[in-house]
Amino acid sequence: MKKIIFPLLLLTSLYAQQTTNTKLQDVIALGEDIVNHTDTNPLSKKYVDSKLQCVNCHRKGKDNKAGTTNKIGTFIGTATAFPAYSKRHHDIITLQNRIDGCFLRCLGGRSVVNTKVGIAVASYITSLSKGMKIQMSPKAPRTPLKQKMWSEGRKKFIKLFHKATHQDYLEGKKLYAQKCAACHGNNGAGNASTPPLWGKNNKGEWLSYTADGSMAKLPNAAVWIQDNMPLGNANTLSDTEVRDIVLYINSKPRKSYKGFKVEQNFKQMGLDFKTITQ
Ligand code: HEC
Ligand code: HEC
Repeated sequence: MKKIIFPLLLLTSLYAQQTTNTKLQDVIALGEDIVNHTDTNPLSKKYVDSKLQCVNCHRKGKDNKAGTTNKIGTFIGTATAFPAYSKRHHDIITLQNRIDGCFLRCLGGRSVVNTKVGIAVASYITSLSKGMKIQMSPKAPRTPLKQKMWSEGRKKFIKLFHKATHQDYLEGKKLYAQKCAACHGNNGAGNASTPPLWGKNNKGEWLSYTADGSMAKLPNAAVWIQDNMPLGNANTLSDTEVRDIVLYINSKPRKSYKGFKVEQNFKQMGLDFKTITQ
């Protein structure tokens, strides 16, 4: 009897291990698809009110996988920082809570925490940190390296935004037409292969990030754009050129988030919205 039971047990446990692994692989693959096709994937589209995909800002790397770029916005290492302290929440948050921040504020959507979508996206993002050391940050929901990259860039641009004028805004409008509009459109609506930057479509649906999204914050947008755009020619714009372009695109209409408006991002830089734009 023993002779039969032992191999049987071995087989069953091997089978169990295999199905568990396949299940995890499936969920990771679902998460990757959602990051690539956030507003069309049948599970995630109902949580999104924009025409953006996560991958538009957390871009593909050489391996063609979403979020593996070596530019700012990469997901490599992201999962190692969690759970972490968040000033915004005055509490400890998990990776799913951080993901939610982008569903709500970037994609103008709804909470995904502990839904199939939230778990799948967290599984995918975590898979990109396999083998890396857990860091659990008591300071901010970012790894020390990312904290450094963002804060150095932000510091540089905050100084420039504080000095901005209406003339700089007009310069930004001109530069946008020269360097960005060919892909993102004069009306900011993008095209089949380029995501939108602002405004609504003819059905009245908001297209891009909300007024309280990370990209709506003037210094964040400047840091990201300098390292990623114009597509194929990144890191060619000077600090003042990027500053001027951001004054222009981030003054454009976008969905307010819980009453937070575009104008407030200018106020945070000590700027009066009307003086800058009119
Ligand atoms: C319009 C651009 C944009 C889109 C679209 C976007 N994000 Fe983000 N996201 C950002 C920016 C900018 C940051 C960095 C903000 C910071 O750290 O202060 C960020 C940060 C994050 C972080 C923390 C990364 C880290 O390493 O610290 C996660 C996780 C994240 N986003 C997930 C998502 C997911 C999931 C989606 C799709 C549902 C998404 N984002 C869509 C702009 C975007
Ligand atoms: C050659 C076409 C092209 C040009 C020129 C270009 N972009 Fe983009 N842009 C893209 C594409 C494509 C993406 C999405 C990237 C991805 O999915 O990897 C993108 C993404 C973005 C995003 C994040 C997603 C969103 O829609 O909010 C911002 C912000 C952005 N571009 C700003 C700019 C600015 C500012 C300029 C001019 C300095 C510019 N781009 C020039 C093609 C372009």
